[in-house]
Amino acid sequence: MKKRGIQYVVKKSDGFYPSEEMKKIANITDPQIYEKAAKDPIAFWGKMAKEGITWEKEWDKTYVEKLPYFEWFKGGKLNFSVNCLDRHLAHPDKTALIWVPEPDTEPSIKISYEELHDKVCKFANVLKANGVKKGDVVSIYLPMVPQALIAMLSCTRIGAIHSVVFSAFSADALKARIEDGQSKILITSDGYYRRGKPEDLLTKAKNAAKKTTIKKIIVVNRIGKKVRGRRFLNFEDEIKKAPSYCKPEMMNSEDPMFLLYTSGTTGRPKGIVHDTGGYATQAYWTCKWNFDLHPEDIMWCTADIGWITGHTYAMYGPLLTGATTLIYEGGPDFPNPGRWWKIIQDHKVNVFYTAPTAIRMFMKTPQKWITKYDLSSIKILGTVGEPIDKESWMWYFRTIGGSRCPVIDTWWQTETGGTLINTIPGIGPFIPTISGKSFPGVKHIIVDDKGYPMPKGRQGFLAQQSPFAPGMLHGVFNNHKKYVSTYWEKFKTMYDTSDGAYLQNGLIRITGRTDDVMKVAGHRLATAEVENAIHDNKVVGDCAVVPMPDKIKGQVPIAFVVLKKGHPSKDLEQKLKKHVDIKIGPTARPARIFFVEDLPKTRSGKIMRRILKSLLIKEEPEGLMTLVNPSSVEKIKDTITENP
Ligand code: WT7
Repeated sequence: MKKRGIQYVVKKSDGFYPSEEMKKIANITDPQIYEKAAKDPIAFWGKMAKEGITWEKEWDKTYVEKLPYFEWFKGGKLNFSVNCLDRHLAHPDKTALIWVPEPDTEPSIKISYEELHDKVCKFANVLKANGVKKGDVVSIYLPMVPQALIAMLSCTRIGAIHSVVFSAFSADALKARIEDGQSKILITSDGYYRRGKPEDLLTKAKNAAKKTTIKKIIVVNRIGKKVRGRRFLNFEDEIKKAPSYCKPEMMNSEDPMFLLYTSGTTGRPKGIVHDTGGYATQAYWTCKWNFDLHPEDIMWCTADIGWITGHTYAMYGPLLTGATTLIYEGGPDFPNPGRWWKIIQDHKVNVFYTAPTAIRMFMKTPQKWITKYDLSSIKILGTVGEPIDKESWMWYFRTIGGSRCPVIDTWWQTETGGTLINTIPGIGPFIPTISGKSFPGVKHIIVDDKGYPMPKGRQGFLAQQSPFAPGMLHGVFNNHKKYVSTYWEKFKTMYDTSDGAYLQNGLIRITGRTDDVMKVAGHRLATAEVENAIHDNKVVGDCAVVPMPDKIKGQVPIAFVVLKKGHPSKDLEQKLKKHVDIKIGPTARPARIFFVEDLPKTRSGKIMRRILKSLLIKEEPEGLMTLVNPSSVEKIKDTITENP
């Protein structure tokens, strides 16, 4: 029987607001909190860190800034896994993690805080026994299985730095990340289930580890492959043999906790460094306030652990707050498009967090797959990753939320560690396409390219002002120059988000990236990365990749290729796409490759991607005057029209 859930929002003329029921339960309802925090953001965060996080030793200085670096809670000591696990052991049987395997013949698994603590201690001992020490980088290449969470937390137990690589990334992509971090241990699985089939992961992992620093590969057995060889250890076997307690390593607040690689404007992804204390504070409070997470809540964030959203909201945030997190192994529409909604019904999910690309996909599926399930347990809906249009927002609000739940449109980045701009459920307003305000204690400003504030309502660059949020990155791994040039060169004393935005009635509306970064089904990709992969091919003379709007994925990469000589062979498009799969992964595969004679270039040789973009969306391109080869444009236009 379907129930109607609690009404958490009311409609007013300018948007939706929290209802009395929402205000009754919300962790924060005071609209003055923004001004209060702004009076002294450093003191505000000091108070938040003290209340939310368990410290072994309190810090000496709350905030120290020597741009382009800044430190939070300097001198403070803590262990991250203690904050996620040990401190919740007063309720040992409380479920920490629900794991839903893809095959519906396999039952879901619930892991209590006590069991998780036990496994994390044991696996931390396994890592130690294999020579992992504080400050070492450990590579994790795992699908959505509980062992991923165990592996990550075990690293934080002993002060090792984890570097998780998205399991759909290729061997080459993994190898590059292993080499950058010089890791000696790789944790992976033999495979995983995706859309009803076992997918191999081990072959990619093995190939990636060849001729690198990797000494041991610890393998989770998921699809029953035989694994043999001296370099391999079995995850569960090792856990069984390991001592059951592992003393937590006390870390400085500023010690790095993890690396996560993300795309910038160049061909090589960079290792974003996140610290311990500041990250923990922001992950904890954004879960409490933005997702209104209570210990009795079940949160399901659909992001993969290969992304920051998976780190902070599928794993760490919910555990820091002592709530329950749900993770699902497989495809959203397997065995049918009702799968996600059945999971919500079966497990009574309270907080659901996903990406616009998924929302758009489900808008297009027959609605009976959704409406047949009872979604009355939902309290809050979140979206992240790219701008969400009004129609999708309203659909999400009505169909999934039953017009009862706040939709929070959370803006943030791999670099920010946690959500930074969105509406707080207990405060409101929830307005389609508007993200909202900066989290209390954080300041964003919309500026022109020189850093001067834009007039109200005008679009400009989104920048963050000092003091920078505690969860913010602490550098690019082994690459100070890149850190400075990417984030600090433009505005010097402000963090450059590379996003565009404008203010609407004092609330922030995000317009999207202002650099050569695409968002393909929510995945962040540099056009240059895809270009590099295509360039690898000897027949390619010149190449440009541009994003094209896509109804489901938001954007898809389209490549324009000039051959060194001759005409493309029949299978060249396929061949080049395959190569992109090998270099990066299928997420980066161009939707189309157009073979052209010439690319529009300026006198200095710069390819005018903007012109290519216009041609793709059938807009009249501007700025042809600046080209050395304006005639190339007509020809490309013809190529696009002739090959729809
Ligand atoms: C970029 C960061 C950290 C969350 C997952 C993505 C875009 C993110 C929104 C939003 C409009 C958004 C921005 C940002 N983005 N959230 N709510 N509305 N755009 O992390 O892969 O590091 O990508 O995603 O362009 O810069 P990411």
